[in-house]
Amino acid sequence: MAEILVSGKQFHLRNPRVSYVFELVGDGIPAHVYLGRRLESLRSPVSQLFCGGQDEDYFHNTLALEKLPQEYPTFGHGDLRQGALDIEDAAGGNVLDLKYLDHEVVKGKPALPGLPASFDLTGESKTLSLRLRDEKLGLTVTLLYTVFEDCDIIARSVSVRNDGAAPVRLNRVMSASVDFEDSDYSLITLSGAWARERMIDCRKLVCGLQGADSARGASSAQRSPFMALTRKGTDEDDGEAIGFALVYSGNFRASCEVCMFGMTRAQIGLNDYQFSWLLNPGETFQAPEAVIAYSREGLSGMSRAFHRLVSSHIVRGAYARERRPLLLNNWEATTFRFDEEKLLKIARKGKEAGLEMFVLDDGWFGHRDDDHSSLGDWTEYRRKLPGGLSGLSAKIHAMGLKFGLWFEPEMVSPDSALYRAHPDWCLHQKDRVRTEARWQLTLDLSRQDVCDYIENAVASILSRAEIDYVKWDMNRDMSPVGSALLPKERQRETAHRYMLGLYRVLENLTSRFPRVLFESCASGGNRFDLGMMYYMPQAWCSDNTDAGSRCKIQYGTSLVFPQSTMGAHVSHAPNYQTGRWSPLKTRADVAMCGTYGYEMDLNTMTEEEFAQTVRDVSYVKSLRDTLLYGDLYRLSSPFESDLTAWMTVGKGEAVVTAVRMSARPNSRWQRLRLKGLNEKADYLVEELSLTLSGAELMRYGLPLDFPAGDYQSLRFTLKKQ
Ligand code: DGJ
Repeated sequence: MAEILVSGKQFHLRNPRVSYVFELVGDGIPAHVYLGRRLESLRSPVSQLFCGGQDEDYFHNTLALEKLPQEYPTFGHGDLRQGALDIEDAAGGNVLDLKYLDHEVVKGKPALPGLPASFDLTGESKTLSLRLRDEKLGLTVTLLYTVFEDCDIIARSVSVRNDGAAPVRLNRVMSASVDFEDSDYSLITLSGAWARERMIDCRKLVCGLQGADSARGASSAQRSPFMALTRKGTDEDDGEAIGFALVYSGNFRASCEVCMFGMTRAQIGLNDYQFSWLLNPGETFQAPEAVIAYSREGLSGMSRAFHRLVSSHIVRGAYARERRPLLLNNWEATTFRFDEEKLLKIARKGKEAGLEMFVLDDGWFGHRDDDHSSLGDWTEYRRKLPGGLSGLSAKIHAMGLKFGLWFEPEMVSPDSALYRAHPDWCLHQKDRVRTEARWQLTLDLSRQDVCDYIENAVASILSRAEIDYVKWDMNRDMSPVGSALLPKERQRETAHRYMLGLYRVLENLTSRFPRVLFESCASGGNRFDLGMMYYMPQAWCSDNTDAGSRCKIQYGTSLVFPQSTMGAHVSHAPNYQTGRWSPLKTRADVAMCGTYGYEMDLNTMTEEEFAQTVRDVSYVKSLRDTLLYGDLYRLSSPFESDLTAWMTVGKGEAVVTAVRMSARPNSRWQRLRLKGLNEKADYLVEELSLTLSGAELMRYGLPLDFPAGDYQSLRFTLKKQ
C-alpha cells in the first residue's frame, strides 16, 4: 500500500518497497532524512545531530544549514550551496527564510495546472502537500510529494505563490532537491547530438557542480532531462540506483553539487540560465514535475520503475495500451520529391507486405519542394496532390490502410504567406538578426494568437480529411529567444511561456481528436521526454535508422523509456546517415523493439528481401503485444561490448534479440543469459527447436552463433509450455 505517515515532525512516504523520509528541524526547516529500502519506522537522530540538541537560534547564529541535508534549500541563511529557489525581492534582496506553514495528505495524484504531469487512475497513490512560508515577503512555497503503489517513484513538484504586497522575481525554481549525505556515487546522464541521441555517459562524482542541462528551447538531443546516481558496484541488476527525470520538454537543469563535506545535493528543474519570472502579488508560479526512481536492483530496477510510470501514469489516450499500427513512412523513400501516383505505389507495396498505415511526411503543403519554404501555410500543395489530402486519404483507406500525416506546426518559413502576414509572430528580438536554421524560424508560442492559429490550422486539416495519425515534428532549436508581445521585464519568461503555449495546443488537439495517434518528433529525438509523452504515446527516436547506431540509441533511451514509446523503422541500406550496410534482418530485429515500421520504398527491394519483409511484418503482428508492451530486459550493453542484446517478456512468451557489431574470425559461440522468465516453467525456443526451463535459460543461457559478417543479428522466440 502507498502511504504517508506523519508523526510529530516526521513525514514518511512509502510503498511496499521504498521509503522517503524527511522531518522538520529547528523552527520548521524540512530536512531530508532517508531515501531507500522500505522502513517500518525511522527514529531518526537528525535533529540531535544537526542541532546538537540546541534551540532554534542555532540555525540563525551559525552556518549550520550548510551541514544539514534539506528538502528545499534557499540562499541567505548560512547554506552556501546552490539553493533550490532563488528570488529577487522588490528591494533587490535575495534572502529567503522558508519555514513550515501546514500540510495536507490526500488520496491520489493532483494534476498540475497547465503542465503535463504523472496521474493516477488507480487512486492508490498518496500525495503530501507541504506548505512553507517566508513571512517577510509573504511568499508561500507548496511542495507536492506523491508516492505510487505500483512503481518505485516519488513525484515532486513545486509552486510559489506571492501573497505579499510587492512583486518578486523568481530566478530559479527547482522542482526537486535532495541532499545525500555522501558522494560515493557515479553519475549517469544521457547525452548526444542529432543522429546520435541518448548515449550513456557515466563518471564518478567529484567535488563541485556537475550534471546535464539544456538551454536550447527543447529538452534536446544533446542532453536528456535525466540523471541517475549509482553506488559503487551497481550494475544492470544489482545495487542502488536513483534516477531523476523531469516531466518537461524545454530548458532544464539536472545537477549534482558535491560540497566540502562530501555531501551531494541533487537537483532537477527548469534551467535558470536565461530564465526569470516576475511574480506579482496574488499570482502563483507552477514549476514542472520531477520524478525520482529508486532501485536496489541496479539500473534495470530503475528503468522498470520509469517504464511503469510512463506506461501507467504518463501516457494517456486511446493508444496508451492499444496496438499501434505498423506503418510505412515515405520520408527516406522520396523526401520532397513525390506526387500522388508515387505515394500510392509506395503505399500499395506496403499493404502487400502487411503494413497497416501509410504516413505522408514533409512536403505536402504550400509550395514546398525543399526545406526553404512554406512552413506555416498548412494547405495542400495541389501540384503534388491534385485531389488534396481528403482525396489521397480516401485512396489510401480504400486500400485498407490507415492514413497518417506529418506537420511541423511550431515553425514558419520566411518564404510563406504566414510570415508575410505576421512577421512578428516568430521568436525574435527587436532590431536583431533573426537567425534561421534549416531556413526556418520558430513561431512564438508564448502568444495566444499564435497558439490559436496553430491549433486551428491543424484542426482544420484533421477535420477535412480522414487522418488517423499525426507526426508532430519540430526541427530547430530556439535562438534568439524573445517575444514581441511580452514587456521587457518578462522577456526571460519567453521560453517557458512557449512550452506552456505548446502544452495548451497539444491538450486541446489531443482532446478534440481522441482517436488520432500522435507521434512526437524533433529532428528525430530532440524532444524525447516525459512532457511530450503525456500528449503523444510514441516519439521518433532518431533520424539515424542505421541498425548499428540504433542499438546504442534505443539502449540508451530504454534507461527511462519503454519500447512502446520508441519510434523505430527499417530503412534502406547502405544507411543514409552513416553510409553503413547492415542486413535487412538486423534492421528489422532492431526496429522490432519499438513502434515498428518502414522508412523506405518497398518496391526497391529484391524479391527475396520483400519475402523476408512479409515474414518480418507477420512475425511482429503475431507477437506485437509482447514486443510493444512486454517487460524490457537489457542483456548486453553496446556501450560496454560488441554485443547488444535485450529481450521483452510478455504473457507466456518472450522475444530475445542479439546484435553483434563486428565479425570475429576464428571465434566460438557465446552464451547469452536471459532474464525475467519463470524459473520453473519450460520454454520452447522456436528457432532452435529446443525446450529449456526458465532456470536453464537464465543461468546457462542461449547459445549465440552469429552468421559471418558485420552487424549480424539473432532473434529467438520463447513460448511457455
Ligand atoms: C525530421 C524528421 O525527424 C524526419 O523524420 C522527417 O520528418 C524530416 N524532419 C522532414 O523534414
